Amino acid sequence: MADPIFSHPRLALIYDPFDADRSDLDAYDSMVKEFGATSVLDVGCGTGTFACRLAAKGITVTGLEPAPASLAIAQSKPGADNVRWICGTMADLPPLTVDLVTMTANVAQVFLTDDEWLQTLLGIREVLGPKGRLVFETRNPAAQAWRDWTREKTFTQVKLANGEHVQGWVEVTNVQAPLVSFRWTYVFQSDGAVLTSDSTLRFRTLGDITLSLHAAGLGLEALREAPDRPGREFVLIVSPTAD
Ligand SMILES: C[S@@+](CC[C@H](N)C(=O)[O-])C[C@H]1O[C@@H](n2cnc3c(N)ncnc32)[C@H](O)[C@@H]1O
Repeated sequence: MADPIFSHPRLALIYDPFDADRSDLDAYDSMVKEFGATSVLDVGCGTGTFACRLAAKGITVTGLEPAPASLAIAQSKPGADNVRWICGTMADLPPLTVDLVTMTANVAQVFLTDDEWLQTLLGIREVLGPKGRLVFETRNPAAQAWRDWTREKTFTQVKLANGEHVQGWVEVTNVQAPLVSFRWTYVFQSDGAVLTSDSTLRFRTLGDITLSLHAAGLGLEALREAPDRPGREFVLIVSPTAD
């Protein structure tokens, strides 16, 4: 079950306005080109920004997302007809082979248990051809990003396309390494509605990630930085290991 921030229709609608700068996706765009991928599976595609961007370049894209409200926004975007959308998790994916699997915007951190993460990686291993790759990012726990998740540092007001103003901020509710829990609060000016969304993310060390990749028949080919968030993210390029 995805968090309210992705699954509540009114909150899914403000995901893009609150995250309007998607320059984080440029590095993924470049990797699609670098690896010569012509088919991509975007796991946890959310509101479909990256999937639509790739489809506009002629890439065969499948967008996988468990939250119907986010997927509905994705499906309403220009060019969405050129993407194959699937509502669900890796367990719901029909047989498929792709050149590249992506998980942008720290999707990897939503998998809280070892088993959920391993099952997801095994599913990804399954769809990769022998020369396929997985690229994903995850926050470096040493950077302790959650220290900046305060009302003072995150308070934002956005104007939606319909002219409505929405205020939002995040606060940490619990830190119990490797899990960090936090709450987003949103105030809708039109009717004064206050909606909250509670989430927990797992901050894995590089060592933990490497071990889990091996358990799924995958290996770390290269480790990069996110150019827009130097020192704060691990960007991993992963390929299948020999059977
Ligand atoms: C931070 S959002 C990132 C969305 C998108 N990748 C982006 O770049 O904007 C995390 C996404 O992971 C999705 N998600 C949650 N649980 C999932 C699961 N088990 N499998 C795949 N995606 C999941 C959420 O619904 C949400 O859309």
